[in-house]
Amino acid sequence: DIKKGSLHPLTLTMNEAVSIFRNLGFEVALGPEMEDDWHNFGALNFPDNHPARDMQDTFYNKDYTLLRTHTSPVQIRTMLSQKNPIRMIAPGTVFRRDFDITHTPMFHQIEALVVDEADKISFANLKHVLVEFLQHMFGDVEVRFRPSFFPFTEPSAEVDISCVFCKGDGCRVCSQTGWLEVLGCGVVDENVFKAVGYENKSGYAFGLGIERFAMLIHNIGDLRSLFESDTRLLGQFK
Ligand code: DAH
Repeated sequence: DIKKGSLHPLTLTMNEAVSIFRNLGFEVALGPEMEDDWHNFGALNFPDNHPARDMQDTFYNKDYTLLRTHTSPVQIRTMLSQKNPIRMIAPGTVFRRDFDITHTPMFHQIEALVVDEADKISFANLKHVLVEFLQHMFGDVEVRFRPSFFPFTEPSAEVDISCVFCKGDGCRVCSQTGWLEVLGCGVVDENVFKAVGYENKSGYAFGLGIERFAMLIHNIGDLRSLFESDTRLLGQFK
């Protein structure tokens, strides 16, 4: 009795997101999973004493390399190696010292970066692309932008969608708020451009977690169940 295989739910979610971005004109860029402090933190305007640099959060190797904690270093590598304008997404695996029902030490993100001449790229461009993407991904949801902080963007925002389970009425999943946080974004900080030697540029960036998206789309309660290779569970996602 030969059973037909199926793609892992995270692969399905990743493929779907990448395909939507490609249709929006983004090109795929890749970077290494072993990074150095400069690409992962320094060039992204993290101060020397930032808590993310702590051994508690980051896996360090003996030789001062580290396992990238996010896909944002691909922003730096792309700006250093590619001609402008840039319109890229970087799907990839990232690592953090975290383990509970919604976090595993290995997980996946998609980073996006758009760069062009000064004043050409605005927060409005960012908003348009994200609303378009989120409505393709989640259907007819409302999207809201909340002021936030990231070292590498200024201004920065976190983006919420109206809760896909209760449609905004308030439930357990959205902690009765009616909203679900789905990603971080912002306008590229001048210090990031300085780090790569760019002058007179404008841009936006955002980053999102594939596990979070998959959990919301497929109503998965415990993320760790996806990494137990149980085909009775994995075979349900087709
Ligand atoms: N790198 C951030 C993280 O892992 C996500 C992120 C937030 C990426 C804002 C961005 C951004 O490019 O603009 O939490």
